[in-house]
Amino acid sequence: MSFKAYLTSQEGKSTKTELVDMTLDQLDPGEVLIRTEYSTVNYKDALSATGSGRIIRRFPCVGGVDLAGVVESSTDAGFKPGDKVIAHAYDVGVAHHGGYAEMARVPAAWCVPVPASMTTFDAMTHGTAGFTAALAIHRMQHDGLAPANGPVLVNGATGGVGIVAIEILAKLGYHVVAVTGKEKDVELLKSIGAKEVLIRGQFEMTEKPLGAETYAGAVDNLGGEQLSWLTRVMKVGGTIASIGLAQGWEVKTTVMPFILRGVSLLGIDSVNCSMALRRELWNKLANEWKCEKLASHCRTVSFAELPTVFDAYVKGQVTGRTVVKIG
Ligand SMILES: NC(=O)c1ccc[n+]([C@@H]2O[C@H](COP(=O)([O-])OP(=O)(O)OC[C@H]3O[C@@H](n4cnc5c(N)ncnc54)[C@H](OP(=O)(O)O)[C@@H]3O)[C@@H](O)[C@H]2O)c1
Repeated sequence: MSFKAYLTSQEGKSTKTELVDMTLDQLDPGEVLIRTEYSTVNYKDALSATGSGRIIRRFPCVGGVDLAGVVESSTDAGFKPGDKVIAHAYDVGVAHHGGYAEMARVPAAWCVPVPASMTTFDAMTHGTAGFTAALAIHRMQHDGLAPANGPVLVNGATGGVGIVAIEILAKLGYHVVAVTGKEKDVELLKSIGAKEVLIRGQFEMTEKPLGAETYAGAVDNLGGEQLSWLTRVMKVGGTIASIGLAQGWEVKTTVMPFILRGVSLLGIDSVNCSMALRRELWNKLANEWKCEKLASHCRTVSFAELPTVFDAYVKGQVTGRTVVKIG
């Protein structure tokens, strides 16, 4: 049986990505064979498909760090043919053939059942980005964040992590301040729950070790200058979830926010999160944290269109999520 796959390989120092035909025996080992219905585009997928970041650790590799589909066969008793499953994180799409293929084979330990009130499409409107937003909010709440503590800032607001984080936080009663580079999307961000929208580059970012105490929480997708600034303007007991590096991987700050204001900097790692927490958070996304507005900020592209979408991600030009219809 042959099927279509979007394969990334390395030729010398450059990366080549192309739609190819593969056979089942070319898939990586695993107990669960899945007929992929949907995958998505995450910032990480764009970095790997364009060769802009060192994401793929094993070449050649089918890209796509997440997928949802239907189990075709399983040698693990936990899954049976017809079950709907999500597979993301671990080595998916970086060191194990991933979601950009009509068939996927993965270890059972990497599979999450699609919650009863979700479809495979719903699951992929969230994808890795939405799951990571949920993980960040979960960690921040465990660190003591509550709506009464004060405003919560979300930067990279129009990106996948950003829009899901804003919708969940607003639903939970937080006063959300969104930071975006896209003036055209101010109303969109307000429509999903942001109470205030700041335009990146148009507000002052103090460089003093301690600025005015402003935010009780922050979801940081950018790193670099934005994260450095955030550490300086958190309230006493404030909590920052460090998720991404779309603007940079360096953080320049002092110990002052940590020792004089008790600020916490939480590292958010969706790849190595435990399976128990992974299942709990997917269930929350399907139920009490359900994002009703998310589907209207998702576009669906066909497998054939996939190669055309990555450049805009690398440039930070995309608003919302991109679901890829595979099967
Ligand atoms: N730690 C983890 O486990 C984990 C999991 C998922 C994602 N991530 C990381 O989290 C970040 C956000 O992911 P995502 O899926 O939301 O990405 P995305 O959909 O591509 O969104 C990124 C957003 O960041 C903003 N941005 C600002 N400067 C940018 C630049 N120079 N290049 C690109 N974007 C820029 C843009 O939003 P505005 O114009 O609204 O500012 C952009 O839309 C990425 O760095 C990603 O690698 C980490």
